[in-house]
Amino acid sequence: MTRTPVNVTVTGAAGQIGYSLLFRIAAGHLLGPDVPVKLRLLEITPALKAAEGTAMELDDCAFPLLRGIEITDDLKTAFDGSNVALLVGAMPRKAGMERGDLLSANGGIFKPQGRAINDHAADDIRVLVVGNPANTNGLIAASNAPDVPKTRFSAMTRLDHNRAVAQLAKKTGAAVTEISNLTIWGNHSATQYPDIFHAKVGGKNAAELVNDQAWLENDFIPTVAKRGAAIIEARGLSSAASAASAALDHVRTWFHGTAEGDWTSMGIVSDGSYGVPEGLVSSFPVTTKDGDYQIVQGLELDAFSRERVDASVAELVSERDEVAKLGLV
Ligand code: NAD
Ligand code: LMR
Repeated sequence: MTRTPVNVTVTGAAGQIGYSLLFRIAAGHLLGPDVPVKLRLLEITPALKAAEGTAMELDDCAFPLLRGIEITDDLKTAFDGSNVALLVGAMPRKAGMERGDLLSANGGIFKPQGRAINDHAADDIRVLVVGNPANTNGLIAASNAPDVPKTRFSAMTRLDHNRAVAQLAKKTGAAVTEISNLTIWGNHSATQYPDIFHAKVGGKNAAELVNDQAWLENDFIPTVAKRGAAIIEARGLSSAASAASAALDHVRTWFHGTAEGDWTSMGIVSDGSYGVPEGLVSSFPVTTKDGDYQIVQGLELDAFSRERVDASVAELVSERDEVAKLGLV
């Protein structure tokens, strides 16, 4: 049976994440090796030519799953009939900036995109916001798409999740595949809280196995939370291939599901769980299946964890208040 191609919209297609992402989507790494895709590439007008160059290279790969590429600077064309939208296009931060400093520069991008998704996307649309500050941009997009269920919008904290898995694997000498049940709580920012208290390494509780509070506080948490800045410092550019890889992981896990007993981290519209105010886009532990997710309930947060979750959520509240003042939500 020939499957109908899935329409995948990628914004910022001519950017550095776009350049890593598009070839892997076309190779089947987003939705699976048996799912054909049609790409819709949205760019700003001056970058259309560069996007055309990328499209030429995509053609030249002769990917069996790639059934078409459309390049546009028009929102309606980009999101018309879109099933999966990856909102990447936005300015990256430079050395010395926090991601929240990008709010006024980037926030305005996500209001019209939210509206266009509302008006033109397919009924089964799923949206991942990558452009920073991702959580609050996700809030802006979701707020401007009143007819689309809020559960269809997500913001990327999978890169933080993957970074935390890698650091924990290094510390314990385990393989990354032995690490499970890790959580990123809160904002994709320096206030995020990577939580190992419920994580497992080879089935054993990670915090008990590590048993090193100084490492947790002074090494692990800051390394994960400030990894983006460390990469900008080292590369002179923000992370791109790892961000693209995390975006693929995020969407693939959303559709294909978390493993039995495990969960992942996604920025999603809060339903009030764990005291995170309803409506904020915050990262939670979630299980996924067939493009839906459920927040993992009932995890105990001790005073150490609670304080960190609350600090990150407070930052999300202040970002929301700022974009409300700008008339974006
Ligand atoms: P980049 O500057 O290389 O590319 C951004 C692209 O977006 C450019 O081609 C630009 O023309 C395009 N663009 C700008 N405004 C647009 C609009 N209104 N519509 C469509 N396209 C538009 O940047 P990059 O390195 O690819 O990063 C993109 C974004 O992703 C940045 O905001 C960056 O901070 C963010 N990011 C997020 C994560 C995460 O974990 N959530 C990780 C890495 C990067
Ligand atoms: C990252 O985490 O690498 C990205 O969000 C880029 C940044 O500004 O840190």
